[in-house]
Amino acid sequence: MTTSSIHVAGLSGSLRRGSLNTKLLRAAMELLPEGMTGEIIPIDGLPLYNADLDATAQERPAAVRRFRDALARADALVIASPEYNYSIPGGLKNAIDWASRGEDSPLVNKPVALMGATGGLWGTVRMQLAFRPVFQYLNMQPVNKPEVLVAEAPKKFDADGRLTDEPTRRLIAQQLQALKELTLRMKTTKAG
Ligand code: FNR
Repeated sequence: MTTSSIHVAGLSGSLRRGSLNTKLLRAAMELLPEGMTGEIIPIDGLPLYNADLDATAQERPAAVRRFRDALARADALVIASPEYNYSIPGGLKNAIDWASRGEDSPLVNKPVALMGATGGLWGTVRMQLAFRPVFQYLNMQPVNKPEVLVAEAPKKFDADGRLTDEPTRRLIAQQLQALKELTLRMKTTKAG
């Protein structure tokens, strides 16, 4: 964890090449406030969760260790995810599960901003609600407001995949500012 600036790990809940949520995450990385840096961490190389391989740090598969290390280097997370069948996509939940166990879990106490895009009208609200108990169990620190729910998302990106909808860009910037303030507050509490 760095002290001078805030480093953010970005996770996309969609593996699809043309994913709206990966585009949304890229936009968020560009909109990070001053003093924050970001990197997108892929989740597609992870095996299915198996607790037999998760008993000790040494036993974890190499891809899992790399994933956990990348999250551990980050001061905060940004997650952009679709809603699958009114819930969290299985691949993303699998990644969260792999990072969730042990004294060295890189998720515990981590500040997190959650956002989601869908072609539908409800903006991933049910996926976001499904994340609440996960954040609670892991004692993660979610940004509560503003919420970023991107409905009718295909209309909000241009042909190059850039987020062009100004109200959405402003909302993301506000959410990231709230993430920055939350992360700084947590750092101060720890330092004190
Ligand atoms: C969906 N989609 C969807 N949309 C939604 O608003 N609520 C839902 O519950 C679901 N369920 C769902 C399940 C599965 C398996 C798929 C593949 C899709 C539609 C989804 O929002 C749309 O495909 C998004 O474009 C997916 O996000 P990416 O891949 O563009 O990031």
